[in-house]
Amino acid sequence: MPADTPLAALESIAQSLTERAYVPYSRHPQAAALLLSDGLWIPGVRVENASFPLSIPALLNGFTTAAALQRTDVVAVVQSDPFTAVEQAYLTMAAPALVAVQGTQFRALTHLAQLPTPQAPLSPFCASPAPESEAQGISLAREIAQHAVIPASNFPVGTALQVADGKLVPGVNVEIADWLHILCAERNALGTAVSYGLSRAETLFLSCPQDATASPCGACRQVLLELAPNSRIWMDRGEAAPQMTQPGDLLPGAFTGASLHT
Ligand code: THU
Repeated sequence: MPADTPLAALESIAQSLTERAYVPYSRHPQAAALLLSDGLWIPGVRVENASFPLSIPALLNGFTTAAALQRTDVVAVVQSDPFTAVEQAYLTMAAPALVAVQGTQFRALTHLAQLPTPQAPLSPFCASPAPESEAQGISLAREIAQHAVIPASNFPVGTALQVADGKLVPGVNVEIADWLHILCAERNALGTAVSYGLSRAETLFLSCPQDATASPCGACRQVLLELAPNSRIWMDRGEAAPQMTQPGDLLPGAFTGASLHT
């Protein structure tokens, strides 16, 4: 279908992105597309988890990707489903400049009268080359942590998620006033990988620069187990050598939701 306005073009992008949603439980795909001021756009898809409340909504997924990639100049957001009351509240906090636009098939928010035409997806990858050692990967995760959005905790976390072709996707923790809708760095990077349709994650470098005992929280362990069960997780140990672990070791006897997949 020809898209004769920027918002219409963004709508068809969001529609095509629904295919990437990871929704084995609801089977209700959902996607959002975030338009940036230069016409590049960021995808965000719904990523469900066997433990339902750990599911990442499309909108949240897109905004946290934007934060990790340091591109928060979002000028319009389109979602394949109407924004729920919770999503409206989230948007008010995450992007207060955006206002609702009437008359579109999808729900759109924008703050520019003259939107740029959507061009291409923003690259999800770090500029740095694939690390040649665990120490290099950790050092990259430490750098990424500098971009954490942490008004509540002042506790930065950074991750670099290496996907099958060796490229690295960044993740930072992103906090808003409503703590129920913050996202950890690990889940941020995993969600970005799903939104971009990237192959399964192989390695995750994790750094909490203020904490030499960094380890994924329980929620991240559950999501790692489902999305990257065979990955290797290299944890920052400050001056000491990084320590490797795997999702199955972090969460023995985990709830896999196997019987939910019927
Ligand atoms: N955090 C992470 O990003 N990853 C973890 O595994 C542990 C916790 C973040 C979430 C929140 O922004 C802050 O650290 C305090 O919990």
